[in-house]
Amino acid sequence: MSSTERNPRTCLAIVLAAGEGTRMKSARPKVLHEVGGRSMLAHVLASLGAAGADAVAVVVGPGREDVAEAARAASPGAEIYVQTERLGTAHAVLAARSALARGYDDVLVLFADTPLVTPETLRRLRAALADGAALAALGFEPADPTGYGRLLIADGRLVAIREHKDASEAERRVGLCNAGLMALSGRDALSLLDAIGNANVQKEFYLTDAVEAARAASLAAVHVLAGKHEVMGVNDRVQLAAAEAIFQARMREAAMRDGATLIAPETVFFSHDTKLGRDVLVEPNVVFLPGCVVEDGAVIHAFTHLEGATVRAGATAGPYARLRPRADLGPKSKVGNFVEIKAAKIGAGAKISHLSYIGDASVGANANIGAGTITCNYDGFNKARTDIGEGAFVGSNSSLVAPVRIGAGAYVGSGSVITKDVAPDSLALERGTQAEKPGWATRFRAAQARRPKNR
Ligand code: UD1
Ligand code: CA
Repeated sequence: MSSTERNPRTCLAIVLAAGEGTRMKSARPKVLHEVGGRSMLAHVLASLGAAGADAVAVVVGPGREDVAEAARAASPGAEIYVQTERLGTAHAVLAARSALARGYDDVLVLFADTPLVTPETLRRLRAALADGAALAALGFEPADPTGYGRLLIADGRLVAIREHKDASEAERRVGLCNAGLMALSGRDALSLLDAIGNANVQKEFYLTDAVEAARAASLAAVHVLAGKHEVMGVNDRVQLAAAEAIFQARMREAAMRDGATLIAPETVFFSHDTKLGRDVLVEPNVVFLPGCVVEDGAVIHAFTHLEGATVRAGATAGPYARLRPRADLGPKSKVGNFVEIKAAKIGAGAKISHLSYIGDASVGANANIGAGTITCNYDGFNKARTDIGEGAFVGSNSSLVAPVRIGAGAYVGSGSVITKDVAPDSLALERGTQAEKPGWATRFRAAQARRPKNR
């Protein structure tokens, strides 16, 4: 059990995901853009789960069934609230008024466009409430504070948060910024939010004004500091790439700390769910899309691209291999250069060393698939399977036209187009008989030498 599950205080988390994100210039809502192969919204929901929220409310824009669906997929118990007009962050929180009215000890407000926040930071915000604060804002010091709200501190106390657009020149020189995330005591949350007006440049109801509301009500407001890499907000694609870079750095470090060797870590790209075992070696320029597991001692050679693939203990893939969804490389099997595997189970010790496509297939243990072998699994309408038995030997440049079975221990002669099942331990050959004309080349050259050249 994590430490937060022992937290006796109840917690409601409200995730704001109603922004249109116009600066993304995208048909897709901002919060569904991905970092490490997972939407920013799903990242936030995952860290909430780990921080021990008892209830999760996600606020979406009108008609945003795609965002609601993504929220339910990532967090099945999530309640969905619709903010009918985009009138600001405080207004968005109040879309979940009925959840707030149920009464919780802690209310956490998160932004779905701030995907890298850790459960530890959420726990620290809640700890500030347990210590008696009515409001805890999350502060950080970005390299460039432009655009962020500034935390205004007087006599060591948080007295206000000023949005960049509303800030004076002097206030804009403040480097301590608002990460956006906030914890509110459940007892005071509704009264603080209802006290917020929209007298500002953007005519919005700012969540940040809860600080001044708390001060007016003589309630304690504090701030908690977070690392600048953890709470950067994503408003455009440049920031999306910056978030991706931070996320990748975290994943690389975690993989190495868990016992994988990355020769050039900065060239290896992970998904949020990539799992590497111990003593896995990953060479430069490897891409892991979602759903990959690499077991102990396996080697992923350079320039290999994996998605939804399992590489079992001691197997090797690449260089330049492409493993597509449901590729399953058995223990100590070998998939070599320019080989594509899709929905295929490769048995222990089997070898597919060069230039092949193996799809919708099974390859038995210790089978050897020669260079250029293709499973012809698609006739333009349907997919069909190819099953290759244990210890079979498929000669180079063979086409296996599915559905077809190659029996255990059978041989297929090079260059064959196999359309019928091959019995175990037999040889199947499908090619024209080789003809030979002795001396033909000599006669040909002599005849050519007598003719005038017409080049
Ligand atoms: C907000 C903060 C700012 C902080 C910055 C950190 C406010 C008023 N400002 O500014 O102090 O430095 O985040 O990244 O809180 N949203 C809604 N409904 C709305 C408005 C926003 O759901 O009506 C959601 C957005 O989807 C987004 C989040 O709230 O997930 C923040 O909104 P955004 O417009 O990006 O705020 P910032 O200007 O970045
Ligand atoms: Ca933002």
